[in-house]
Amino acid sequence: MRSSYPALRLRRTRASGWSRALHRETILTSADLIWPLFVTEGRGVEEPIASLPGVSRWSVDGIAARAKEAVSLGIPCIALFPNTQRDRRSDDGAEALNPDNLMCRAIRAVRDACGQDVGILTDVALDPYTAHGQDGLLDASGYVVNDDTVAVLVDQAINQANAGADIIAPSDMMDGRVKAIRMALEMAGHNNVQIMSYAAKYASAFYGPFRDAVGSGGLLKGDKKSYQMDPANSEEALREVALDIAEGADSILVKPGLPYLDIVTRVKARFEVPVFAYQVSGEYAMIEAAAAAGAGDRDALVLETLMAFKRAGCSGVLTYHAAHAARLINA
Ligand code: PBG
Repeated sequence: MRSSYPALRLRRTRASGWSRALHRETILTSADLIWPLFVTEGRGVEEPIASLPGVSRWSVDGIAARAKEAVSLGIPCIALFPNTQRDRRSDDGAEALNPDNLMCRAIRAVRDACGQDVGILTDVALDPYTAHGQDGLLDASGYVVNDDTVAVLVDQAINQANAGADIIAPSDMMDGRVKAIRMALEMAGHNNVQIMSYAAKYASAFYGPFRDAVGSGGLLKGDKKSYQMDPANSEEALREVALDIAEGADSILVKPGLPYLDIVTRVKARFEVPVFAYQVSGEYAMIEAAAAAGAGDRDALVLETLMAFKRAGCSGVLTYHAAHAARLINA
């Protein structure tokens, strides 16, 4: 038996706030958020990032303070990205393997400040450390070579795990890196260090402000299309995800976020794994620009977009709006 108008009026359950609350299918909590933070050298330093209004780079002490803030807001996890000084960058990105690099110092400071109260997610890719701004090693023609890059990424991941990272997040899109990193973590006794794989990461125009934030934007020549995915493809995303699960990924990341929610939904429908999405820097900047131009209410835009990720099937979202959103949700 199927009901139809006028017996069925879908507006009936929407008529009041209590009823809308009762019928709400998706909930957004501060525990759904991962907060990306940019680290810079120095002490007591806060550097605003022009292309990401409202987001700053913090020196290690400031990162520890932000991590404490995350704990107090109920945000379970932070993601760290270093702005490596120009003179520490090289063609082979060797600074990524330095146990005292900015990233490792930030990891240790957060651990000291917060103990196990916050998860520390660390990005594995060479772009914050290379002089050319690509995520891997180049051959003579400028092509990013796969297998030699994977060998370095493994060492980078172990370096981060040794410093205390909880989740290794390879964002480089090399083939075979999840398996290599998982095996190395097991061999090194890091059995409980997770891998959140950027399985479906697209060669996107939405990463611009991030590249400014980590200082690789001005260095990068060309694009990343020989390793990041073509925005036209979604079958290929499913193949990438299947491979990364088989290689040992604990969870999957789709990136960018809002323009790729169809990918989230397809992945979630196909595989029984936790799926996360990254609302990337260009998406953040777009919301801030819209709000500044009076084209929409900032708080409403933030909460609506984050809810959309949950509705699409995400377990959680990386977002630069994490602290602001948590304050709104907790209010
Ligand atoms: C690099 C990396 C990028 C982002 C996260 N890790 C940029 C890129 O691939 O060039 C983008 C995040 C954002 O735009 O917020 N490995």
